[in-house]
Amino acid sequence: MDQRRLLMHQAMLADRPRVIAYDRALEGAVRGGVVADVGAGTLALSLLALRHGAEHVYAIEADPQTAAVAAAVAERNDLKGRLTIVQGDAREVRLPRQADVVVSEMMGNLGPEEQMMEILGAFTRRNLARGGRVVPKRLLTHLVPIEFDREGWGLWSDDYFGFRLDAVQESAAPEAQLCFFQRPPRMLGAPVTLADHRPGGARPVRRTRRSMTIDRPGRLHAVAGYFTAALTDGISLTNMPSYSGCNWAVWVWPLRHTSVSVGDELRVEVRPPDDVRQVTDWRLDCALRKGK
Ligand SMILES: C[S@@+](CC[C@H](N)C(=O)[O-])C[C@H]1O[C@@H](n2cnc3c(N)ncnc32)[C@H](O)[C@@H]1O
Repeated sequence: MDQRRLLMHQAMLADRPRVIAYDRALEGAVRGGVVADVGAGTLALSLLALRHGAEHVYAIEADPQTAAVAAAVAERNDLKGRLTIVQGDAREVRLPRQADVVVSEMMGNLGPEEQMMEILGAFTRRNLARGGRVVPKRLLTHLVPIEFDREGWGLWSDDYFGFRLDAVQESAAPEAQLCFFQRPPRMLGAPVTLADHRPGGARPVRRTRRSMTIDRPGRLHAVAGYFTAALTDGISLTNMPSYSGCNWAVWVWPLRHTSVSVGDELRVEVRPPDDVRQVTDWRLDCALRKGK
């Protein structure tokens, strides 16, 4: 077994706000009955469902090695009869019983990269009981113009101890970066929605245009991309701004630093890559239009 594979679960298990948000969401959503955990990994969400009274949990995991570890977790916790591991691609699984609650956590840094809503759509069509609940119920991706502190943006900064580095900027092709902000960036305008997906209603994000209006004067440094997942009514998770222990980075498209005023408009064209999973291959074409 490739033991390094499992290390990706370290960051997810260490992200306490993530786990606590799911715990609270499942506390409200589970009312006995059957729960399906799609992409169950180390059973982090399955165990929470059991803690909140699920009668039976089906834990669906595509990766055979991870599924084997999940089986060992179930055995050590004496879950025989309460939890069944189903190894396979959730898009093709048909459970012996319909689920009253389907839970999943496959959000990418921007939201859609892990295709959670598409997978949940295929899974729930076969396996969700009438009137059943899906956690999360909605996944949104937002873009926002930002100004940040001096947090390692050397190349894109216009001031290096009083000297200029714009010659370097002009020679470097902009590329999306992933960032954990030490301090929340200033949002210079209201976020715009790039994608709004529900289970069963998710379509791949296509090349698309958006316009952001500047409503706070400042220095425009970048456009940030992030997700908000509505787990249940009133309980949501977002990776913006970064929080302590957050396992999702914020997607950042750096811009040449420019002073902006209220009423300026930043127009962007989003160009998703063919392989949606390659988050740093998402590209933005940006044009700033000065207001009057
Ligand atoms: C982000 S991890 C979440 C693990 C766990 N639910 C948690 O919250 O800690 C996603 C898991 O989903 C699994 N997965 C990805 N695509 C899947 C699919 N189509 N069907 C079943 N499992 C899948 C991955 O192997 C991985 O273990």
